Amino acid sequence: MNKQIQVAIDGPASSGKSTVAKIIASKLGLVYCDTGAMYRSVTWAALDRQVDLADQQAVAKLASQIKISFQPGTPDQRVFVDDVEVTKPIREAAVSSNVSTVAAIPAVRQAMTDQQRAIASRGGIIMDGRDIGTTVLPNAQVKIFLVASAHERAVRRYKENVAKGLDSQSLADIEAAIKLRDQKDSSRKVSPLRKADDAVELDTTSLSIDEVVSRILSIIEKSR
Ligand code: DC
Repeated sequence: MNKQIQVAIDGPASSGKSTVAKIIASKLGLVYCDTGAMYRSVTWAALDRQVDLADQQAVAKLASQIKISFQPGTPDQRVFVDDVEVTKPIREAAVSSNVSTVAAIPAVRQAMTDQQRAIASRGGIIMDGRDIGTTVLPNAQVKIFLVASAHERAVRRYKENVAKGLDSQSLADIEAAIKLRDQKDSSRKVSPLRKADDAVELDTTSLSIDEVVSRILSIIEKSR
């Protein structure tokens, strides 16, 4: 196993990226970086400090000032903004419905991309997001693009929310929000959600987590 390997996993909201990336990271001893959590953290900080999200300069300034860090945790990695733990609040609906606006700000993306590359430079990494294969790690040895129907992704997110005791949005509301976020993430000018030309596309709609993991593991194995 190449200890410096870079694995990029991209795809729309709730396509299973973080679940499979975490499993593969622990099986292969790679660092896992959830880049969506970073955009969520900036959004959380902006809402917390009442920064106007339409003021791109102010949001970008905030993004460059806060320190986002990860610590191991079960079942999820713990996420901190400076010294405040935000693991749970960054998954709440207020953040989910505003994160696309924040993630579309070019200077915010630049600040996050710089931090993500710095994390990746430390060694073997599996990173999930929207633009990892296209922009953040264009030389990654393995690039996966996960897709699944919007309905299936809404069902997964709903079950996840119930299991985590998060606020109870209806399934229909979650599906509508997912479609809106897909549309915003795919149509933004800077680093839109897009499959890299050299990425392998996997449709997970009718696959179990174990099946997705084993397919990706065999792609990684073949890349060596
Ligand atoms: O994966 P997620 O749902 O936690 O991501 C939250 C938001 O962050 C999503 O709407 C798109 C954005 N994002 C992004 O633009 N680029 C990334 N690399 C990761 C996430």
